[in-house]
Amino acid sequence: MAKLWAGRFSKDSNALLDEFNASISFDKELWKQDIQGSKAHAQMLCSCKILTQSEYESILRGLEEIEGEIERGEFIFKLSDEDIHMSIEGALTQKIGEAGKKLHTARSRNDQVALDFRLYVLQSNQEIRSLLLNVIDTLLNIASNHTQTLLAGMTHLQHAQPINLGFHLVAWCMGLVRDYERMSESYKRNNLCPLGSGALAGVPYATSREMTSRSLGFSSPTLNAMDSVSDRDFALDLLYEISMIMMHISRIAEELVLWSSYEFGYISFSDEYSTGSSIMPQKKNPDVAELLRGKSGRAYGNLISLLVVMKGLPLAYNKDTQEDKEGVFDSVKTALISLEILDKALQTLTFHTQKMEKMAKVGHLTATDLADFLVQKCNVPFREAHHITGKVVAYAEGRGVDISELEEGEIRGIDERIGEGVKSVLDLKASMNARDSYGGTSENQTKAQISTLKAWLNGVKNG
Ligand code: ARG
Repeated sequence: MAKLWAGRFSKDSNALLDEFNASISFDKELWKQDIQGSKAHAQMLCSCKILTQSEYESILRGLEEIEGEIERGEFIFKLSDEDIHMSIEGALTQKIGEAGKKLHTARSRNDQVALDFRLYVLQSNQEIRSLLLNVIDTLLNIASNHTQTLLAGMTHLQHAQPINLGFHLVAWCMGLVRDYERMSESYKRNNLCPLGSGALAGVPYATSREMTSRSLGFSSPTLNAMDSVSDRDFALDLLYEISMIMMHISRIAEELVLWSSYEFGYISFSDEYSTGSSIMPQKKNPDVAELLRGKSGRAYGNLISLLVVMKGLPLAYNKDTQEDKEGVFDSVKTALISLEILDKALQTLTFHTQKMEKMAKVGHLTATDLADFLVQKCNVPFREAHHITGKVVAYAEGRGVDISELEEGEIRGIDERIGEGVKSVLDLKASMNARDSYGGTSENQTKAQISTLKAWLNGVKNG
């Protein structure tokens, strides 16, 4: 069948080229946005008297029929239609005849694809943001129940200082909160309508870009037609944002993998969100967390791949940009399912708080508190306090206990400079609560962080 653009050609294109050139196999994903854009365009053409009312109405009816057919899975996407834009326009003309041929007045596929893709990116931005809020909400709910649960805080993956589990979970939240904010900012920046830019230079009709922009929910039309058909920054923003989200998810996932190991024993995944081994019947594997960790790979790949496609492209539209879509579709699907699964896995996680508290007693986590006590309460210079603390640690090691388990008299017997009340300083909870500086791990500070984030959450949910 002759192509929509075949007027100047005398021979059919080669079948292999058709396959190479076509994007319908993947850009059919944009069918909703394409129809949404065409409806707005037709309405504007009618308001501007470029289409008659009856032409507009039959276009609208035709587009709605096509919409229904696609939704019901009855519509046939043909390779010969090349892409989603020609596929829908061709079907429209077959349905309604002459009026269908007028729909493409005052637009080009270049601004059409820029519009469809931008709508997809903006809609995905909103969907991803709403799932981010769910995960943040889940983490805050768990955190509220664990502001007194002791945990060994780590640096270099070694026991460092006592913290509470709630504080750790709030730390997980922070990256996701920034991800949300970053996406809100880019939504605002990119919420501009490229439709009506034409092929590259604008259109010679008395159209109103303002009108289509408004009816499609954009804040205004894009400023420069040439940039509008060529720019894919909005898609790169999303790919970067998703990469960042997946990086945060992979860090959370890594801790979930560690914590579910026998060595830590801090958490168990519910059976619903864990998997078995085909050979080792005793095993329960954290595949969900491992996949969440691994999925960041494809997200980074998609970002780099579009950056490379865009590098060095001359203005304005180039067919290279047809390569922009598959990676974005893949990243969006990856982010959506990852956030959903992470949320479910967290909600159904069991925390073994006794094991956490037991492990907090390993590694003399309150050694720094002893040194600070000697400096602040016993007038010992820090360097000597450090040395005396070392002696207490060695003594405890000799007894095979943690310094928090030593008795007052026993400790004071190690060095006469150690003053009264030392036992209470070595207590893990006391140590945790002593870190009461703004942003610190004390129970009070942790609760304050949780309520700040809950207020933030309510603020963004209520607009
Ligand atoms: N399928 C094309 C793409 O995704 C649509 C735009 C084609 N425009 C053109 N002048 N060939 O980029």
